[in-house]
Amino acid sequence: MTEIARGLEGVKFAQTRLSKVDGQAGQLTIGGYPLEALAPNACFEEVLFLLWNDRLPGSAELNALKHDLAARRALPMAAGAVLREAAARKLPIMDALRMGIDTIGLCSDEPHPAGQVDVGCAVALVAHMPTVAAAYWRLLHGLEPIDARPDLDHAANYLYMLDGREPHPEAARALETYFNTVVDHGMNASTFTARVITSTRSDIVSAIVGAIGALKGPLHGGAPGPALDMVFEIRARAARSGDSVAQEADRWVRETIESGGRIMGFGHRVYKVRDPRADVLGLAAQRMFSVTGESRLYEDARVVEEVALRVLEELKPGRNLKTNVEFYTALVLHGIGLEVAMFTPTFAVGRVGGWTAHVLEQVRDDRLIRPDAEYVGATGRAWVPADRR
Ligand code: ACO
Repeated sequence: MTEIARGLEGVKFAQTRLSKVDGQAGQLTIGGYPLEALAPNACFEEVLFLLWNDRLPGSAELNALKHDLAARRALPMAAGAVLREAAARKLPIMDALRMGIDTIGLCSDEPHPAGQVDVGCAVALVAHMPTVAAAYWRLLHGLEPIDARPDLDHAANYLYMLDGREPHPEAARALETYFNTVVDHGMNASTFTARVITSTRSDIVSAIVGAIGALKGPLHGGAPGPALDMVFEIRARAARSGDSVAQEADRWVRETIESGGRIMGFGHRVYKVRDPRADVLGLAAQRMFSVTGESRLYEDARVVEEVALRVLEELKPGRNLKTNVEFYTALVLHGIGLEVAMFTPTFAVGRVGGWTAHVLEQVRDDRLIRPDAEYVGATGRAWVPADRR
């Protein structure tokens, strides 16, 4: 019997310096730094530089990168037409993101020849992603896209392009922490997709477009929406019944598990002691909500979390079901004013940093990725022409 590595679980096909996921220890290392040290302190541009160059930038290098990103935010003319057509058909945002990013090949000063990838291509892709996402969001809502503000950093400018207001610094900081937290996460499906495409000596735009396609699937792009829905539903029940949020949460979690359901935002295939991203985003949410209002929502979410952890341990002992990244992602992104439909596209705006870094890494040490499959189909069939079948 051939041993099949279904889903390639546990198969190592390359070495990487970009990130290490240690599920047993509950640790995530990005470019050598523990997530807890990097994500809340670094600006997103610093993390991009780190991933692309394997070191943090000096201040002149950081300013140069910020300037370079800001200079490449504008979309080619054709992108506007594509996004308008997509909005008229109300296509999903991830589809529009894929189509919009594909038009980057039309930027006359941005050649992306197959097999020749440099950091400049990566900068252009990272710079375009929020512009496409924000422009499409506005078009979907019958609003005109807003030009980027070159004086704003990457995260703040994204929020500005969404609603035309300069964001509260704490909202921009929370988004930046979110981007840093999700920028890279081992050999996940979209990153692998980007590396497979790169390994054929294709171009970086194709690799990123492929990665967006992989991220679109709910098994990867995640569904932080349901975690937020749960918190809102428990609060609403508490308001109706007069019981506390903790009592309603207890009821909700028990009912859900006893009827065979799962508590969204809990459990992880790899992280069994803790999901470090949940911790980092939990602190980011606490900081943001304490200054931007809605701290009640944060407090209620903490109550729901505590109850869920307790009841999961009681009803599913030994499964080590801890809070995962989705729970606090939902809270952070809601807190900065994003609607649920923008959660996965916003994930892509952060993750494109990791995708491009993996493309660069794959190019530096390329070997065509070409796994195998066991053939289990028929053999020896005799050919019969169509008119005799
Ligand atoms: N709520 C209730 N029970 C759960 C949960 C949960 N969230 N997660 C796992 N379990 C239970 C399962 O029912 C199963 O119980 P059993 O032993 O009685 O049959 C046991 O724990 C093991 O479940 P598996 O599905 O084998 O665990 P796995 O590690 O494969 O699942 C997963 C990981 C898919 C994330 C799961 O925990 C889950 O469905 N969580 C809820 C959805 C969610 O939050 N998804 C986002 C994950 S984060 C991310 O992907 C970026």
